[in-house]
Amino acid sequence: TKKITIAIDGFSSTGKSTIAKQLANSLGYVYVDTGAMYRAVTLYAMQNNLIAKDYFKVEELIAALPTIKLQFKFSAEAGFAEIFLNGLNVEKDIRNIEVSSFVSKVAEISEVRSKLVEQQQEMGKDKGIVMDGRDIGTVVFPEAELKIFMNATADTRAERRYDELKAKGDQVTYEAVLKNVQERDYIDTHREDSPLIVAEDAIEMDNSSMTKDEQFNFVSTLVNDIT
Ligand code: C5P
Repeated sequence: TKKITIAIDGFSSTGKSTIAKQLANSLGYVYVDTGAMYRAVTLYAMQNNLIAKDYFKVEELIAALPTIKLQFKFSAEAGFAEIFLNGLNVEKDIRNIEVSSFVSKVAEISEVRSKLVEQQQEMGKDKGIVMDGRDIGTVVFPEAELKIFMNATADTRAERRYDELKAKGDQVTYEAVLKNVQERDYIDTHREDSPLIVAEDAIEMDNSSMTKDEQFNFVSTLVNDIT
């Protein structure tokens, strides 16, 4: 079977990473979570007082970009590659609601995007990769052999994300999670650079009422048809 590139895009909390990880494991492919990269840059901005509720020092963040080093290192314990920001594992620091509340603003910046896109293209140059994000099928790998665009109702997505955060012990309300999901979707679909849109040749999938097994079977069939 030939190695392909699989692009998984879609709205926030639609389960992109669940599908992507399952696929990568079953195919022996590399999995790259590009949202983690935008989240890590956001964490950097927060740690260096470049972004907060009442300010965003865009020019200073752009100037700092060359000093921001992102790496993925496979963790046998986690079963996927965890993200490192300037040498430190930040996997557990990037998925809270605070980072989530700033990340879409950081992801609007063209300089941030071009830096991360370049690194993503480098990671995928040999194919055999499953990458999830918002612009993978449209910008990062427009030539990807398989493009999936995932969607689900806002309530379904907020519920899943809320359960996930609660399980980790985060103090969040369902309303705050729903509001964040909706705000990010709005910014992600309306930004000028690489907005979230369905690629022409993407296969759309609404998983609001699909089980994880059903999703996986659906996508595996698509992969088998190609490889
Ligand atoms: O996938 P995740 O929800 O972790 O992504 C966090 C945010 O990062 C998104 O809401 C979006 O603003 C940004 N993002 C992006 N392009 C990508 C991946 C994520 O703009 N390829």
